[in-house]
Amino acid sequence: MKEIYEAIERSAIRIRHAIENDDTGYSDNANKTGDIQLKLDIKSDLIIEEEFAKVNTVKELASEEKDNVEVLNPDGRYLIGYDPLDGSSLADVNLSVGSIFGIYEDDYSGNSLKSAVYVVYGPRVEMVIASEENGVEMFRLDSNNKFNFIQKLQLNERGKLNAPGGTQKNWEPHHKEMIDDIFKDGYRLRYSGGMVPDLHQILIKGGGLFSYPGTSDVPKGKLRMTFEVFPFAFVFEKAGGAATDGCHRVLDLTPAHIHDTTPCFFGSKNEVDRVKVCYERN
Ligand code: AHG
Ligand code: MN
Ligand code: MN
Repeated sequence: MKEIYEAIERSAIRIRHAIENDDTGYSDNANKTGDIQLKLDIKSDLIIEEEFAKVNTVKELASEEKDNVEVLNPDGRYLIGYDPLDGSSLADVNLSVGSIFGIYEDDYSGNSLKSAVYVVYGPRVEMVIASEENGVEMFRLDSNNKFNFIQKLQLNERGKLNAPGGTQKNWEPHHKEMIDDIFKDGYRLRYSGGMVPDLHQILIKGGGLFSYPGTSDVPKGKLRMTFEVFPFAFVFEKAGGAATDGCHRVLDLTPAHIHDTTPCFFGSKNEVDRVKVCYERN
């Protein structure tokens, strides 16, 4: 696993350089989900592929930016599901973006995750690693290109932040009522449109709720299980929080295809319980 974390560190340093120096425009291609890829999405994907190709424990890659899985080493132990550059359309407005990695064994189901990692490219570059052995640990990149351990991350039972995703005009009435009730209880809006910084903020500030529900236009939500939802569900559980699709624990789900999406809610236990009560009634 150490070589995998080191490949992620090398990728992060190169992606950071590309974000700072490259064109933030679109390419002529769309990915499997139908999103037009930015040049930065494609470059970040290539960087990560190059770095994982140097690690012989990596069996195959499943990327948000590749239609199909790519086999690197048939004898390898781990499968990596990753989003090379999450929130990439925010790079041109200079908001934070991120990379997300799920390290799986056997298949891409939630319960096959062994570790999850994300990197935030913001005013500072931070990497968070979640594992069975060490819980959730945050590292920060220094001027010598070294990631230094900063702190462990642990959620409180209840937080103060609310990050409600999805197009509001398409929310289900019960979802709207739940979000309104949370605001009435004094929670503050914190939403950038990048799930990596939005979830990182909730983790660092001790708790709250991030939601990306199913809506009338996208009943299964927008966020993809393999690359985005499972890795963050793993991080939130290991930090003492929870993640649900409204009715099921997220990590009990299995995608039929690597690009499948699911409604998702991440947060401290109190807020996720609120979601479950609301969704079980509806
Ligand atoms: P990506 O840039 O990898 O396509 O994903 C962006 C995701 C996520 O970061 C964010 O929470 C969500 O899309 C926002 O989507 P909308 O602005 O379309 O609601
Ligand atoms: Mn994404
Ligand atoms: Mn992406």
